[in-house]
This record gives sequence, C-alpha cells and structure tokens, in this order.
Amino acid sequence: MRKVRLILYGLIPVVALLGLAAWWLGPDRAVRIVEDATAVSVGGPFEMLDHRGQAVTEQVLLGYHTLIYFGYTGCPDVCPTELNTMAQAIDTLPPKQVARVQPVFVTVDPERDTVAVLGAYVAAFHPRMIGLTGTAEQIAAMKKAYRVYSRSLEKDDDGAYLVDHSTFIFLIGPDGRFLELLRPQLSIEEMADRVRRRLG
Ligand code: NI
Repeated sequence: MRKVRLILYGLIPVVALLGLAAWWLGPDRAVRIVEDATAVSVGGPFEMLDHRGQAVTEQVLLGYHTLIYFGYTGCPDVCPTELNTMAQAIDTLPPKQVARVQPVFVTVDPERDTVAVLGAYVAAFHPRMIGLTGTAEQIAAMKKAYRVYSRSLEKDDDGAYLVDHSTFIFLIGPDGRFLELLRPQLSIEEMADRVRRRLG
C-alpha cells in the first residue's frame, strides 16, 4: 500500500508539469510540437509510376511545396474527405501561390489502383494533383520512407476489401525535404494557413 501511495505521490509533479505545459502552450501548440517531433526524418528517394504512366522519382517534388497523402481510390470516406480538403485549401490561395503547390496522392492499393484508375481519380479532385502507383515493392519502399502504415483487410465474398491506413499529410519543401506533418481532419482554412505560412 505504501509503495502504491509513494508512486502516486511521485506522479503528482509529472501530471502538474504536463498540465502546466498544456496551459502555457495551448493544446494546439502542444499537438504541433508532438507532430514536429514525430517526423524527424521522413521521405527520401522513390521510384514510382505517375497517373499518366510515366516513371517518376522524388525529383518531381523539387521546386514545389508538396502535400503528400497516402490512401486508395476505393476508400469510402477518409481519403475523399482529406483529398477534398487538400484541393480546396490549395484553391483558397492566390493563383501565383497555387502554381507553387503540388498535391500528391500515393496509393497503398496497387492491386486495384492502376494508372488508369488513378488518373480518373486524381483529376476529380484537382487539376494539379499527381497520382502515384507502382509495384508492391515500390510502394512498400515509399511507405517505409514516409513511415506510413497500411494493411489490406479480408476480402468479402465479392472479392471487395477495405484498406486500413494512416491518414497524415506530409508537407515537403521545394528542396525535397520534409517540412511538417499535417494531422488528419484539419479544416480547409487550417490547412491553407499551414501551407501559406510555409510559402512565405
Ligand atoms: Ni482512406
């Protein structure tokens, strides 16, 4: 009993410190610090196929502020929502800034997301959106570099399946280096703000 009480008393300063930090920084900034800290080294080289069937590498990111999102075209809700937010956020920027931003959608479901499927899908969201697919190995390598998780769930009787996947958006700078992680479900205005701040 005494040990438990000692441990509990020991926790008081820790909890108080965390509370103080959240009060001082505000919950948004506290989340931001966690987001920045999680993504120390993200991204890097890749070899994929774009939605036009061209072989591309990380060179396509150079010169643009790129927003990268991993998902799949058969996703019923999360992917369309995030991609729509991404597209609308870009369109709230002045045209000169829009030209400096590049939205990228990377499929985690190459079995169904062929070049043709991907082409139609990205065009429905934004004229500047690039779709990336590839072999299972190429996609696995890109997922690893970006620390993205995904897992195809069991097929139903019709062969249909969902894919469980992480839903962060990566903001990459014009030099190809990772800038920041945008958490899921930002509003259009919040996402536009985060991009605008980076565009300077
Ligand atoms: Ni999805």
